[in-house]
Parts: sequence; C-alpha cells; structure tokens
Amino acid sequence: MSQSSSRYHEVYQSWRNDPEAFWGEAARDVSWYKLWDQVLDPYMGQYGRWFAGAECNTAYNCLDRHVEAGRGDQPALIYDSPVTDTVRTYTYSELTDEVATLAAALVDIGVKRGDRVVLYMPMIPEAVMGMLACARIGAVHSVVFGGFAANELAARIDDAKPVAILSASCGIEGSRVVQYKPLLDQAIEVAQNKPKACLILQRDQAVANMIPGRDYDWAEVIADLKGRSRKADPVAVKATDPLYILYTSGTTGQPKGVVRDNGGHMVALKWTMKNFYDISPGEVFWAASDVGWVVGHSYICYAPLLHGATTLVYEGKPVGTPDAGAFWRVISQHNVVALFTAPTAFRAIKKEDPEGTFIGKYDLSNLRTLFLAGERADPATIQWAEAKLKVPVIDHWWQTETGWAIAGNPVGLGLLPVKYGSPTVAMPGYDLRVLDESGQEVPAGEHGTITIKLPLPPSCLPTLWGDDQRFRDSYLSQFEGYYSTSDAGYVDENGYVYVMARTDDVINVAGHRLSTGQMEEVVATHPDVAECAVIGVADQLKGQLPAGFLVLNSGVNRDSKDIEAEIVKLVRAEIGPVAAFKNVMVVPRLPKTRSGKILRATMRKIADGEDWKMPATIDDPAILDEIKTVLDGRRAAG
Ligand code: COA
Ligand code: AMP
Repeated sequence: MSQSSSRYHEVYQSWRNDPEAFWGEAARDVSWYKLWDQVLDPYMGQYGRWFAGAECNTAYNCLDRHVEAGRGDQPALIYDSPVTDTVRTYTYSELTDEVATLAAALVDIGVKRGDRVVLYMPMIPEAVMGMLACARIGAVHSVVFGGFAANELAARIDDAKPVAILSASCGIEGSRVVQYKPLLDQAIEVAQNKPKACLILQRDQAVANMIPGRDYDWAEVIADLKGRSRKADPVAVKATDPLYILYTSGTTGQPKGVVRDNGGHMVALKWTMKNFYDISPGEVFWAASDVGWVVGHSYICYAPLLHGATTLVYEGKPVGTPDAGAFWRVISQHNVVALFTAPTAFRAIKKEDPEGTFIGKYDLSNLRTLFLAGERADPATIQWAEAKLKVPVIDHWWQTETGWAIAGNPVGLGLLPVKYGSPTVAMPGYDLRVLDESGQEVPAGEHGTITIKLPLPPSCLPTLWGDDQRFRDSYLSQFEGYYSTSDAGYVDENGYVYVMARTDDVINVAGHRLSTGQMEEVVATHPDVAECAVIGVADQLKGQLPAGFLVLNSGVNRDSKDIEAEIVKLVRAEIGPVAAFKNVMVVPRLPKTRSGKILRATMRKIADGEDWKMPATIDDPAILDEIKTVLDGRRAAG
C-alpha cells in the first residue's frame, strides 16, 4: 500500500493542530456520568491531567454499556486453556453478571472506593473478572505477574497496601503445576501490610490450604452471592482517579508503581482499537500476553471490551502446549482476526518449526494482521512471520508507562510503508524528540535519548504510586519539559523511529522487562560475594538473558561451581523464575573506571562479540582480558 493512501499524516496533523479538540472528539466514544471541565487541565498533577472534572466508570464502559446496546449475547471473552483442556465462552451478559457478583464479594469483604486490591493470578477468566470487579466499585487493582517470587509480591503488597488479595491455588506452566498459595502466604508473612482478606480460587490441579478468618473460597462466595442475586452496580469515579497500579522494573530493586487513570485510559485505548488495530466490534482480538504485563492490561482486558470486541484469554505457551501449532489452532478455532504477541514467541515457534509446517494445517483465513511489541522486533523474525502467515506484520513500540503504542504503523488509518527495524511513526498524542546529553535536539538520523514533549497523551502515567518525587526524578528531571523514555535511538528524515537500546539498567528477557540493578542487589546478599555485575547479553530466543559476574570475598575457597549454583537459586527464590537468571560466573576482578564505576557496557559488548574500544577511563585494561578469557571458556564449554 502506498504512503498516500494512509490517513495517518492528516490525522497526526489534526492532533498537532489542536490536541484538546482531538482528544475531546475521541472521548465521545466513551460513556460519561459527567463531562469534563477541561479536556486537559495543564495545572493539575505533575504535567497536567486529562478530562479533569469528568466522572465515569471503566467497567461500565467495558460491560453494561454493550449489554444495554443489545450486544448481551455476543461473546465477550473466550478462555482457551490447552493446559487444562478447557474452552469456555462468556457473553457480554454473562461476563457482566460474573463481574457484578465478584464486585459484590469485594464490597462484602470491606473493599471501598479507592482501596487497593492485589491480584496474583494465572491466565484464567477470573483474573480479568477481578480487574473489572475492582474497576466497577472504584477500587484500584494491582496485578502481580505469576512468575514473580514471594519477596517481589511482598514488595508490591507493601507499596500498594491492599485491603484484599485475589489469587488462585496454582498456575500451570506447560506440564508443571506452580503452587501460588504457598508463595502468597509467604509474601503476606514477609509484608508489613497485611490484607484483611484473600479470595482464593481452588483449581483442580492443586488444592490450597486456607487460613481461617483470612482466606475465603472464591467459588463458595460467588455461589452464595448468586443464590441471593447479590451484585454491585458500577460507581461513578473521577476520570483522574486511579484505575490500577502496575509495578514495573526500574533501576533499583524497588519496583515503580505505574499509575493508570480511568478517563484518559479509556479514551486512548478505545481510539486505538479501530484506528490502530483496525478491529470492529464483534471481532475476535487476541493478545497472547499475560494479565501481569501491561499488554495484558490494555489488550486482553480493557481495550477489546471497551470496543465491544471479543477478547481471548489463553492459558498456554506458543510451543509445547502441545506443539508449535498452538497459536494457529487457537486462531482458526476462534476466528481470530488479529494476534498481538512478543517477537520472542515467534522466535520460539520458528525454532521448533522453521518451515512453518504447522501453519499449513490450520485455516487462518480470518487472520488479517500480526502485531508485535514488548521488545525490539528483529527483521529476521518479522520477515519469517510475513512469509509464513502472509499478513502484514506490525511492530509497535510502547512501555508500561504509556499503556499504548508510542509509535507504530496504524493499520486502521491505512498502512504506511514498512521499514524493517523501525516500529514506524509516532502516534497522535506523542511529540517525539531525540535529545543529546545536554538536552539539545539532534538532527534526523542521529542517535540520542528518545523523549516525549510534555504533556504526555491520555492513558500515560500521571505519576508513580505514592511517589510524585520519584516520578519527576525518573522521567521528567533529565530534560526539562520532556518525558524521558530511557530508550535510545533515532528518528529518520521520514519520521520513522528506531528504538535501539535502553539507557538504564533495564533489560528485556523474552518480552519481560527486568532490572539488572535489582538482580545485583540480590546477588550481593550472598555471603561469599564481594562484588558483582549483572548485564544483559544477546540471546537468539529470548532477545536478552541476564549474565552475572561475581568477585568472591578473599579467603573463600569453596568450589566456585557450588557458589554459582547457589546464586542461581537465590535469584530464582528472591525475584522469581521470570528472571531467567541461569548464567553466572566467578571472575578474578571487575573492570572499572578510575572513579570506580563498573564498565558494564564494555562487558556487554565483549559478551555479545561486538566490536569494542578500550575505555579511556579504564583503571586496569588487563581486567577486560580476564573477563574475555572467562567468557571464552564458558562458550567453549557450551
Ligand atoms: N507463573 C509461574 N512461572 C512462570 C510464569 C508464570 N506466569 N511465566 C513464566 N514462568 C516461568 C517459566 O516457567 C520459566 O521457568 P523455568 O526457568 O523453570 O523454565 C521461567 O519463568 C522463565 O519464563 P520465560 O522466560 O517466559 O520462558 P519460557 O521458556 O517459559 O517461555 C516464551 C518462553 C518465549 C514462550 C515466553 O516467554 C513467551 O511467550 N513470551 C512472550 C512474552 C510476552 O507476552 N510479553 C508481553 C509483551 S507482548
Ligand atoms: P515494558 O514496559 O515491559 O512494556 O517494556 C518497555 C520497553 O521494552 C521499552 O522501553 C523498550 O525498551 C522495549 N520495547 C517495547 N516494545 C518495543 C519495540 N517495538 N521495539 C523496541 N523496543 C521495544
């Protein structure tokens, strides 16, 4: 398709001409109890707030609104779980009833508007119901990904201070049953803030021990409420009230509580469904992510339902449940029109089925588009997917902080020509500027930090939970008047964005955002470790993998293999299996600058086999040779 047939430039320009008119118009697609006083109040909050003065309810817009409009019998949510051999569909009426009942359960537990509720759940419909039930009564949910360990859960509990926790007895990882309840119990024990109540969904694969007076059986509570037809109605909340907190990795061990509001979030997400993803109400949209990540929040739970589409909750993996044809089976069985996943999922499929043999076994005629995000989409993966699926493959770049695409190729507005390696162009709402270290804009094609000129568009975080100062320090203080994405890259002369690397200690492992700084904090607690560095090294499947370099305390003469194994176990126990921390090695010394800063970037280049220059500030150049020798030894050992 040629560039001229896309409406993108015209629409982007209309946003530039009058941002408030643009978002005010988009907001007409949402149902409000009270309209806003101002589309953007520039003086409210940290950089302005969207739809100030308005009142709304997100769950009402996701559910009741469609039932009232006559879509009650349309499928709202399809649950497909190859790991439990289950397929179940909920219509909009059924999902509304389930959510209204669960919302009543929360009210009965004592959850009030503004209270927080933590969810620690596998990929089952009850996770989505839990999120919507909170939204319905104005409570603020915080979903914690199941791959995080008890300590990580505890850190989030202590920051969010939930009144209640929703969880399940277990998750299922391929053929492995992961017991969630012992992790939850341990987290609550460690946490300073104890929730009043836990609602626990008992699954057949594992029965959780219940703590009397604190734990309630989900199914029993719901059955009792249904027997009494007790439901909770949606309540009016402020557009600027928080809908959820989603913790994401920052530079340190303390995760950042990204806050999402109600009004702006609905407006932006609803806009994307047609204009970006080209989805019509009634169509099946599948984001093969997890509700624990932002993609799951925005595109498993909220956006498809706001739009009256059908969402798909998939409890399985791209490979191994049972094979590399899993995605194609789901697409054909449920008439999926668009799939959204991370490039790593495609690399996993390609590794198992390089010829794409499984693809030919299924009818994929309904599939129109594949969307990729969460990490840099390598051109080889995009080209393989294009060749095998014969649909447009759309890379788009976003962050937990934004909740929707910063840059992408807007299918709904008409495709722009694809340039491999670029997620295409800035979306309306985002005024991207690439800045050098002194805050000067660099010319097209030159590298720098990619920033967004304030204000951020609707749906982007207004602040970090309970910490305005950290929000300003993390995002706004480096370049006055701009939000720093902490992604480095460039914009070419046609406005195409290239996102190349993070400027901080964040790495991206299998589409999961992780902090190497946090891993270092954990590794450093081992009694034999004097100092350590964790870096992200390139990996063909997962994009990046963490690698830990340890210097042992003098006098330690234990077998370094034992210490390395203990450290792998420690990180798994403290952060969780999601860290995929398996690669650790003892080295004699760490390379540093004369002022004592560890030269992580140079270490990464050596580990990745890239060209590297001896840093001028290095204290002792011989140390880099020592590191190279250890790495070469590891490679030789396979
Ligand atoms: N609960 C408990 N454990 C979990 C978990 C969960 N929800 N999710 C992952 N884990 C575990 C895995 O079982 C694995 O454990 P192991 O070390 O014992 O094997 C570990 O955490 C690492 O998981 P992951 O890195 O995801 O590897 P994997 O081999 O299980 O799967 C992929 C690899 C590529 C299939 C998978 O990572 C994937 O589908 N990624 C897409 C990510 C995504 O959707 N990102 C959101 C942006 S779209
Ligand atoms: P998360 O907050 O987990 O969504 O991770 C956001 C980070 O993932 C971004 O800051 C980027 O570093 C990276 N990322 C996400 N999508 C892309 C993409 N399409 N291209 C390049 N990097 C991406």
